[in-house]
Amino acid sequence: MTTTTSSAPTTLNSTGERIYNFSAGPAVLPEPVLKQAQQDIWNIADSGIGIMEHSHRGKVFDAVIAETVADCRKIANISDDYEILFLQGGATTQFALIPMSFLTPVTTADYPDTGVWTTKAIKEAKLFGNVNIAFDGAAHKYDHTPTDAEISQTDGAAYLHYCSNNTIYGTRYSAPPKTPAPLICDASSEIFSRPINVNAHAMIYAGAQKNLGPAGVTLVIMRKDFIARAKTGLPTMFSYGKLAEKGSLLNTPPTFGIYLMGQVFKWILEQGGLTALEKRNDAKAKVIYDAINNSGGFYRPVAQPQCRSTMNITFCSPNDELDKAFIAEALANGMSGLKGHRDVGGLRASIYNAFPPAGCTALAEFMNAFAQRNA
Ligand SMILES: Cc1ncc(COP(=O)(O)O)c(C=O)c1O
Repeated sequence: MTTTTSSAPTTLNSTGERIYNFSAGPAVLPEPVLKQAQQDIWNIADSGIGIMEHSHRGKVFDAVIAETVADCRKIANISDDYEILFLQGGATTQFALIPMSFLTPVTTADYPDTGVWTTKAIKEAKLFGNVNIAFDGAAHKYDHTPTDAEISQTDGAAYLHYCSNNTIYGTRYSAPPKTPAPLICDASSEIFSRPINVNAHAMIYAGAQKNLGPAGVTLVIMRKDFIARAKTGLPTMFSYGKLAEKGSLLNTPPTFGIYLMGQVFKWILEQGGLTALEKRNDAKAKVIYDAINNSGGFYRPVAQPQCRSTMNITFCSPNDELDKAFIAEALANGMSGLKGHRDVGGLRASIYNAFPPAGCTALAEFMNAFAQRNA
């Protein structure tokens, strides 16, 4: 047997232990979930077969998907009025599938533009119908999300699409926008990090790779009466109705991703659910925001205070050189993934649900020491 040599950098930790992973996604997963997955990849539920090797039409996977749906409902108090779907193609595919299903050349959808991800969604929507840019965040370099008063809505809009947490800029809505139109939320980078009023929405979707599991599966929570309004005549795999009818099993679904999402759901429930997670996430974020606020101006936050994310904390040091030094020194201290997105620059600490509080304390201590050395 031949072996290949990886071109990946050598391990950052010579003990082989894990380091603090501040990546914006794919991102850190809960350790108990990873340990359970190690076992279940080998042999799940004493079946003698690993989870990735089971048929998606067999009893073992039937139980996995049924439990995953049930736990999802429990976490966010989701009634039977909503379907829960596990789709492929990432959140980006939803950017297209939503207007393909619900927008026509004679209707208009409202899109507050709060940065890269909504800009991409707007581009897709324009392929199918009219788009009202209901708020233009570019004018403020996307440093805040709009209040209801800042969103200019269209009478009779087909829907209003918003992104509840803007991963790149570290901004979030404190509450969903109020609208008479069906409300659609891209919650990719904060889903299940705080309580969410599902009933205010026609649809909520999220790529899994930040708060829910591995890349390759997208969670879609969708009201049944909204699904019923979708255009007909679309290709089978683009039909929410047909996907719902078959319980996400129109074709071979991403079985491992669904399994792991199910394990993350169990972990969320064990943590005490969304209220407990919100409390923990607020406390974790505060440690880092305090380090920014108490740095005497050394660190500059990107997002306005009233809409700062608890998942993605964005800030800059006094200049690009110091940003680079910060990233390199942090990595040498066992903290990776702190480079800001290329559109914003600077630094970003992504601290999703599974990110440990001790990592936030470690970063804050590092930030204080770095500021003192370089002020
Ligand atoms: C808020 C948000 N929406 C959408 C996406 C795109 O997700 P995907 O890569 O799953 O298509 C991302 C990716 O980071 C994101 O942060």
